Amino acid sequence: MDGNLNTLEGAANAPFYLPTGDECEMFTAASQNNLPVLLKGPTGCGKTRFVAHMAAKLNRKLYTVACHDDLSASDLIGRYLLKGGETIWVDGPLTRAVREGAICYLDEVVEARKDVTVVLHPLTDDRRILPLDRTGEEIEATDGFMLVASYNPGYQNILKTLKPSTRQRFVSMEFDFPTPAFEIPVVVRESGLDEERVKPLVRLANKLRDLKGQDLEEGVSTRLVIYAATLIAQGMPVERAILAAMIEPLSDDADVKRGLLDLVTAIFG
Ligand SMILES: Nc1ncnc2c1ncn2[C@@H]1O[C@H](COP(=O)(O)OP(=O)(O)O)[C@@H](O)[C@H]1O
Ligand SMILES: [Mg+2]
Repeated sequence: MDGNLNTLEGAANAPFYLPTGDECEMFTAASQNNLPVLLKGPTGCGKTRFVAHMAAKLNRKLYTVACHDDLSASDLIGRYLLKGGETIWVDGPLTRAVREGAICYLDEVVEARKDVTVVLHPLTDDRRILPLDRTGEEIEATDGFMLVASYNPGYQNILKTLKPSTRQRFVSMEFDFPTPAFEIPVVVRESGLDEERVKPLVRLANKLRDLKGQDLEEGVSTRLVIYAATLIAQGMPVERAILAAMIEPLSDDADVKRGLLDLVTAIFG
């Protein structure tokens, strides 16, 4: 969701997000004081949904950039493009957010190329400026501009961590999979499956999460639990839905998968 909401209806239309702590208050306080925010946590635990929700509640336009290993500073800032024999400058999403006072959300920021973090530094100190080297322009961030980034510290890749000099420019908030008291209502709401049928799925998810670091690199995400529940709500047999949404996505190893299926049998009989 791109949260293109600049009206007062924003708050009412905000995408559903169930707070699990004081994250909404923290984000609001940061936004009111022009502080950049870093969301840390495993994939599929609600970070992107949280940002979409907060942007709508704060009535800010949201520019979301899914970072990948080919994403460069120009992709964020902008570039000269040839249009009908003329070269014109076209702002990238970061530049647009800086000009418009919007939220720019860099999803999985560590995936981006190194030159990207350099661009972020002058925006995350009190100058709040974005130098456009190519045009010679230096843009001062419009009030309301907020930089939000997310990353998954769990991946065992030393090359892909944030440098302290970058990390220490952000207010950091740690996210994790919601505890059952929160995950059950979230899955019920997102899938339409009734609570009694969601409960054992969440129990299974937590058993699978306990295996993280042993047989599995990552535990099952809330997103995958929602997929399983959605398939079941659509009439798929429970075991098939679990296999497709909660087992196969975790491993390609036949032995590991057999071990995981034993957990399913233990819970569902
Ligand atoms: N606290 C929550 N409130 C509402 N939905 C949630 C919550 N936590 C997780 N979700 C659900 O989990 C899904 C995956 O979350 P997402 O924000 O895409 O994860 P991330 O960005 O952390 O990878 C969302 O689409 C949403 O349905
Ligand atoms: Mg995300």
